[in-house]
Amino acid sequence: MKKHLIAPSVLAADFARLPEEIDMVNRSEADWFHLDVMDGRFVPNITFGMFIVEAISRLAKKPLDVHLMIVEPEKYVESFRKAGAEVITVHAETCTHLHRTVHQIKESGAKAGVALNPHTPVSILEDLIEDIDLVCLMSVNPGFGGQKFIYQSLPKTRKLKEMILTANAQTLIEIDGGVGLHNAESLLQAGADVLVAGNSVFAAKDPVGTISQLKAFDARFDF
Ligand code: DX5
Ligand code: ZN
Repeated sequence: MKKHLIAPSVLAADFARLPEEIDMVNRSEADWFHLDVMDGRFVPNITFGMFIVEAISRLAKKPLDVHLMIVEPEKYVESFRKAGAEVITVHAETCTHLHRTVHQIKESGAKAGVALNPHTPVSILEDLIEDIDLVCLMSVNPGFGGQKFIYQSLPKTRKLKEMILTANAQTLIEIDGGVGLHNAESLLQAGADVLVAGNSVFAAKDPVGTISQLKAFDARFDF
């Protein structure tokens, strides 16, 4: 059975100590760096763009999982790929031609992710699921770290897992928002493959130890 992945969200890091925070993730059992790009239009917050992603790529020793919370993401796919993104995730809500954008990401050489807001049903991905490398289920409303996990994300994860199994697809399920030691195991049992963890890691007394604990849970989903 494949082990699940842990992707600490750099949004929760102390940006005045960014090299040390990145080094902490490098030294830990984490698998990816999750980087949240926000434009102040799709979401009510602004973070950073490709220049910071590129700077992080020079310090990071693990793949960069870039979550684009921006309108018209198709304009920037190649720039983020050039900046070092291994996974590029766009929001379904921002893509009129989602099939085209997913294939554009794959042609850039990155893995293609599609994120869904809490109110967006997984069924909209039914005719595209085999082409998607990763579905990111937002378990909070995107825009901010440190929010409370929306509990409906758990049955939603099961529903998506069923869709992936029925299609015999290899798509990974990533859960983003409010994930920590209190809900990691239930999410893995529901079918999650990648856990994004911001505040639960960076605000912990022992971030490296917390990552190890998140990594140690059993990934076997229970149906
Ligand atoms: C929210 C971001 C998340 C966020 C997660 O819009 O997409 O990646 O950083 O942070 P926590 O784990 O603190 O909810
Ligand atoms: Zn994110």
